[in-house]
Amino acid sequence: MPGEDAHSSGRSIPALRPASFKTRRLFVRSLCADDLEEFSRNRARPEVAQYQSWGVEYTLQDAQRLLDAQLLTAYGQCGSWHQLAIVRCEDGQLLGDLAVHFCDFEDDSQAEVGFTLMAEHRRQGYGQEALAGLLRHLFLDRGMRRVTATTDERNERAVTLLRAVGMRQEALLRESSFWKGELCSEYLFAMLASEFRLAARDDVI
Ligand SMILES: CC(C)(COP(=O)(O)OP(=O)(O)OC[C@H]1O[C@@H](n2cnc3c(N)ncnc32)[C@H](O)[C@@H]1OP(=O)(O)O)[C@@H](O)C(=O)NCCC(=O)NCCS
Repeated sequence: MPGEDAHSSGRSIPALRPASFKTRRLFVRSLCADDLEEFSRNRARPEVAQYQSWGVEYTLQDAQRLLDAQLLTAYGQCGSWHQLAIVRCEDGQLLGDLAVHFCDFEDDSQAEVGFTLMAEHRRQGYGQEALAGLLRHLFLDRGMRRVTATTDERNERAVTLLRAVGMRQEALLRESSFWKGELCSEYLFAMLASEFRLAARDDVI
């Protein structure tokens, strides 16, 4: 059928939208070369790297490698990660980024998400707005069935944010990962498409 894209699972979903969306105050789009300096500087901040897979030694070259890899894969390709820039509509300021992992399962309707805001743009609701917008984009524009996120159990701001957008805590994976020299426990949060419809936050997005 015109405008439809058949996935490996056999499901076909209406005209896939590109990797961009808008919310009340934000424009979210693919990361681009102009973002890399600010993006890499932010990633190297101790409080940003603390609960993430990278360390404070994160460089511009690391960011360039990430972008280069991203440019080689189509948005939505199973197994790929895609980094999105969170930009304020009002003045074009880069506020942070979102990550989407299109999970490499037999079922291609699952995605995993991550999120980071620059320190000076926190506590203004941009995180909630960007993540709620991303959930809407993944469920409604991309036809996803299940979206998950994991976070270190000590990352209170991330846990608060995940709850605020209506994601459901499914598990606490005790001592499930070894990060930066120590054993960590992680929360697994999830939302199904049916739950998104119930939790839709029109006030935020
Ligand atoms: C996780 C992270 C994005 C959360 O940022 P945040 O600023 O706490 O989240 P938000 O942008 O949604 O802001 C929510 C706060 O803004 C306040 N706020 C102000 N104006 C608001 C508005 N217009 N709408 C909604 N909330 C608003 C809320 O009351 C809330 O504050 P409170 O928690 O003190 O009540 C941020 O801490 C971060 O980037 N951490 C480092 C990276 C990281 O660890 N990522 C997670 C990896 S799993």
